[in-house]
Amino acid sequence: MSLKDKIDKDKLPQHIAIIMDGNGRWAKQKGKLRIYGHKHGVISVRETAETAAELGIKYLTLYAFSTENWSRPRAEVNALMKLLVQTIHKETKTLHENQIRLNAIGNLDALPGVTRRELEEAIKETAKYDKMSMTLALSYSSRWEITNMVKEIADKVNKGEILAENIDQELIAQNMVTHLMPDPELLIRTSGEYRISNFLLWQIAYSELYFTPVLWPDFRKENLYEAIIDFQQRERRFGKTTEQIKK
Ligand code: IPE
Ligand code: IPE
Ligand code: MG
Repeated sequence: MSLKDKIDKDKLPQHIAIIMDGNGRWAKQKGKLRIYGHKHGVISVRETAETAAELGIKYLTLYAFSTENWSRPRAEVNALMKLLVQTIHKETKTLHENQIRLNAIGNLDALPGVTRRELEEAIKETAKYDKMSMTLALSYSSRWEITNMVKEIADKVNKGEILAENIDQELIAQNMVTHLMPDPELLIRTSGEYRISNFLLWQIAYSELYFTPVLWPDFRKENLYEAIIDFQQRERRFGKTTEQIKK
């Protein structure tokens, strides 16, 4: 039985989020510059997107660049921004072929103009697809998002559009940049680090976490299958008891 056959098609997560980590270490192991790792990470993005769409995953969110990543050496940041433009340009074909809708979350205004334009173009071009929605988290951090959400809600309260006493979880979720997607059932982090690094803190309240030592540029479809199979063996209790779940 192949790994893929072990996946229960009726128990697929709707939304998988991935912290794509380990590009720099992958390159270093090969005696290359960090950007060499980022370039190879693109192959993993393509394969993961194609595999997820083929399986029937509806939402895939990829943490590509954090707010904190702006503090990296200027040369790496510039190279990453350039790589982003090239990748979006080249990979739009993959999006069309697989009917994937592209989306982006984060402080996109902080991106260089050319990167933002390329991104907006690809988002517009693929808006018609509904096989899978792929979201790139760019210049994103959860605390940035939560801060924004608080400002937006405060603004609405100030304008009298909502009453403070009516603020609830639903309203908070609606004011997050992720408001168009369900919370991820599965969060994967590669490269053997056991942390969240400011990613989707609100949305992963009940996500299953999957950590793998595989460095992102080595991540292949089998690795995605393994993560999904692992996820399907878990019992998601949401605070209840096993007995209640089994009923
Ligand atoms: C992840 O790989 C990609 C980004 C954060 C942009 P890293 O660049 O963090 O690689 P490591 O963690 O240093 O190996
Ligand atoms: C998290 O990776 C951000 C992305 C994958 C884009 P980092 O490499 O920036 O995380 P830390 O610094 O190791 O926590
Ligand atoms: Mg890293």
